[in-house]
Amino acid sequence: MAEMIVTETHGRVGLIRLDRPKALNALCDQLMAELGEQLLAFDADRAIGAVVLTGSEKAFAAGADIKEMQDRRYPAVLFDDFIARWETILRIRKPVIAAVAGFALGGGCELAMMCDIILAAETARFGQPEINLGIIPGAGGSQRLTRAVGKSKAMELILSGRMMDAGEAERANLVARVVPAAELVGEAIKLGERIAGLSPVAVLAAKQAVNRAYETTLTEGVRAERSLFLSLFGTPHQREGMAAFAEKRKPDFSAG
Ligand code: CAA
Repeated sequence: MAEMIVTETHGRVGLIRLDRPKALNALCDQLMAELGEQLLAFDADRAIGAVVLTGSEKAFAAGADIKEMQDRRYPAVLFDDFIARWETILRIRKPVIAAVAGFALGGGCELAMMCDIILAAETARFGQPEINLGIIPGAGGSQRLTRAVGKSKAMELILSGRMMDAGEAERANLVARVVPAAELVGEAIKLGERIAGLSPVAVLAAKQAVNRAYETTLTEGVRAERSLFLSLFGTPHQREGMAAFAEKRKPDFSAG
């Protein structure tokens, strides 16, 4: 039984709450293993169409667990690459929405950036403060933050360890939207419900297509998008979606 996460379902939305309050949800091995297992379970569950990942009011996650990492040494870390185990989230094919309140630092910011959409509470604070510990980001922060906010701001944040607030993160395009803290999880579930009510095949394809933009060249990405787009013409949901439009009714994507 999981000890460091809490799981709920809200209709077709699976919610995972990081729940290690004494360490501000620091991402230790056990928490990451529990998170990975639950993400895979939601991904395999046909009743779930989208996942929300959140933390507490004070912290989404304050980073990798510094106390657990303190005694790790090279080359032992090379052979037991603990960060590789964090990447389960990248194998999840359904949309994952990060609902971030409070600190999202270091590995916490990186975890949020591995999600597909970030919604932020007004209280959210993002940063990559690893430089203060004599290290650098190790779960993709130097790459994903740079792609999200551009070189100059990423350099400033990563080289200085400065945190940015929710407003700055929204202006820098790191987050999709900022909402009042009290509405954060509700808004994320609402967004998840909307997505989960659409064609699951089209949603998977859309996620894949946007990720190609993020991970590859324009030519490759456009080619991948075209192939996904054309493949959707073989689905009942394309027939239903277009018929519903022509007949001026709401589409029903529950079958198929
Ligand atoms: N690892 C382990 N424990 C942590 C932690 C972390 N990343 N962040 C906070 N905690 C613990 C604190 O040690 C403290 O525990 P005790 O009560 O047992 O002392 C508890 O959580 C509460 O923290 P604070 O008392 O420090 O709370 P605060 O409100 O004064 O400060 C904070 C909050 C600014 C987030 C501060 O805790 C902090 O700076 N945390 C570390 C942030 C950080 O450096 N993150 C990067 C980690 S490295 C990384 O993530 C590598 C990677 O790229 C994968």
